Amino acid sequence: MTATESTYLLGHEDAEVQRLLLQGRLYDDYTEHALRLAGLRPGMRVLDIGSGPGDVSFVAARLVGPTGTVLGVDAAPEMVGLARARASEKGFTTTHFVNATIDSLALDEPVDAVIGRLILMHLPDPAATLRQLSSWVRPGGLIVFSENDIAATQSIPEIPLFARTAAAITRAFEALGLSARFGTTLHSVFADAGLGTPRLTVGTPMGTAADTDVLAYAAEVWRLVSPVAQQHGFAIDEVADIDNFVPLLRNQVRAADAVVMMPPMITAWVQK
Ligand SMILES: C[S@@+](CC[C@H](N)C(=O)[O-])C[C@H]1O[C@@H](n2cnc3c(N)ncnc32)[C@H](O)[C@@H]1O
Repeated sequence: MTATESTYLLGHEDAEVQRLLLQGRLYDDYTEHALRLAGLRPGMRVLDIGSGPGDVSFVAARLVGPTGTVLGVDAAPEMVGLARARASEKGFTTTHFVNATIDSLALDEPVDAVIGRLILMHLPDPAATLRQLSSWVRPGGLIVFSENDIAATQSIPEIPLFARTAAAITRAFEALGLSARFGTTLHSVFADAGLGTPRLTVGTPMGTAADTDVLAYAAEVWRLVSPVAQQHGFAIDEVADIDNFVPLLRNQVRAADAVVMMPPMITAWVQK
């Protein structure tokens, strides 16, 4: 495997696509805020790496407006197909998607910004990839990447079942060889890529028992990794039937009058 190759471990089954769409609904406003802070402006040409169903590209497209362009790149053809269909549904005529791995991508000219969300963590050598990606950005252009901190997921006050599930999710990511706290290391990854010290920001969706998307997202992440938990012997009996997860959690969050915090999404950026 080369430095920038990735065998995306979370798959592309329908459940994973639905999880990514839900993730987009929860996180896109924070991504918009981060991209705006980083300096995405009308007229820019943007490259979105690991574009998945297209949400980050669509956020960027709104910021760069009709005089800018966005190219989303993804290694999975089914993701590219979905992103294209969504772009045409939403009427984004200057947003395009290509099916390519980072390694195989060739650009005609440098871009004004290279961006990505939840992609670097899936690559075997994120700093080497970031170095390669930054070579495609014109001097003065932007390099902006977002990654999360799964281990920071919590309820306040603590709900034991939620805490145990969040800890098991963290453990499952680590068992898959993925760093659950990758977002908190972005500054080192930028430094190791020769990009100096990035600026940082963070956005964290949170909600109460009334917040359907927040509870559903926790359940969908658990659905994704529970086979790994089972395989490694840390399955959680109370939530073995994942369809019970949301009602059970909702009752417990309501009874404790708690708030639930999803994994914070950390964004790092530099101007080249
Ligand atoms: C967690 S998803 C994130 C999707 C999107 N950025 C978002 O936030 O909604 C990661 C995506 O990166 C893609 N991917 C993984 N490795 C890749 C590579 N080496 N080159 C291009 N795409 C890759 C996967 O196919 C997947 O769609």
